[in-house]
Amino acid sequence: MDNFVFQNTVKILFGKGQIANIAQEIPSDAKILITYGGGSIKANGVYDQVKQALAGRAVHEFGGIEPNPQLETLMRAVEMIRAEGINFLLAVGGGSVLDGTKFIAAAVDFEGDPWDILAKQAPVHSALPIGAIMTLPATGSEMNAFFVITKAATQEKLGGMCAFTYPQFSVLDPTTTFSLPDRQIGNGIVDAFTHTVEQYLTYPVNAPLQDRMAESILQTLIEEGPKTLAHPSDYDARANVVWCATMALNGLIGVGVPQDWSTHMVGHELTALYGLDHAQSLAVVLPSILSLKRDVKREKLLQYAARVWGVTQGSEEERIQAAIDKTRSFFESVGVPTHLSDYKVGEEAVSSVPQHMSDRGEVKLGEQGDIDLDAVGKVLALSL
Ligand code: NZQ
Ligand code: ZN
Repeated sequence: MDNFVFQNTVKILFGKGQIANIAQEIPSDAKILITYGGGSIKANGVYDQVKQALAGRAVHEFGGIEPNPQLETLMRAVEMIRAEGINFLLAVGGGSVLDGTKFIAAAVDFEGDPWDILAKQAPVHSALPIGAIMTLPATGSEMNAFFVITKAATQEKLGGMCAFTYPQFSVLDPTTTFSLPDRQIGNGIVDAFTHTVEQYLTYPVNAPLQDRMAESILQTLIEEGPKTLAHPSDYDARANVVWCATMALNGLIGVGVPQDWSTHMVGHELTALYGLDHAQSLAVVLPSILSLKRDVKREKLLQYAARVWGVTQGSEEERIQAAIDKTRSFFESVGVPTHLSDYKVGEEAVSSVPQHMSDRGEVKLGEQGDIDLDAVGKVLALSL
């Protein structure tokens, strides 16, 4: 196992009715900005619950944060915060609202162009405190410090993090997710599954606890995912998917082990250039990465085949192929197609994506650093 430092400070308030308890998590004299997206929280009653919980508090609002949140929109919130003297942010929505709010929190006191936080990984020295109410199980943003932001002007989608963008608390009330359309539930399952795979499916470093934790998350998603799609208001099935999504990306399963975020890196380009949902891009890329890198990932692919999918018969090559095929079928079964053609993206992506990535310098992805621009093109060719 590799050396690691682990710290995660997010307080989780899990379960029915927890929104009612947020007032005690926010300083009583705080000037609060509630941030949200395109209106789902108004339609499903979450907004009313939040307003009720914060009755009598100084509250401002900023709505309209779009899926794949855009720098241009978020900077309007930064201006509002500076003008109004707001000192606490409460993000209410999916990963995009939470990510956008983290960026806003870091940008308010940033000296210089806040886009540099992403484009140049410029150091952040402070951020406003954040609370979160997560209404979409997928990204894990409720319990990590990451944010992924898009600059519409240049079609760049980049990720960042800093020590100050962990939410102070996050509410996970599975009933707030009952209003999700099937497409977003399927997306969430695929996103959480892929986060887990990217911290697990590399090469062995004798870390059996991290391995088994990752395998548990994958098996739970395989079991509970279809249940929650079939019965969207079954509380227990949804609660299990919600907790899987959080555990998949709160840092715990990734400690001391090699990681391979190439699927996310290539996926972000597909979203930026062609508008695929985040999880749609992952469903397209992950099976192809596994297929292309089957030699360097061989030992873990065989372990994944046996322990996650119960595939123990056949030659090594047959078992690996079966595991990749089952991964693809699972994504399809939760309603997320796995080929570029399903999203009307054609062969041009094979060259346009590497080209777009090369504009930002050298590309060395994967746990071995061996996925270069040429390999990215091959991955996309396998994804057509
Ligand atoms: O905008 P509203 O009206 O709220 O509607 C949203 C949006 O249209 C809707 N929605 C959310 N909760 C709902 C709901 N509709 C009905 N009922 C509810 N309870 O769902 C749509 C998609 O929302 P979005 O927040 O965009 O989805 P998701 O949570 O999948 O977030 C995706 C973003 O997170 C980033 C992605 O790149 C993408 O930008 N990621 C963030 C990560 C992180 N912070 O760690 C890691 C991930 O890998 C990912 O990159
Ligand atoms: Zn993701």
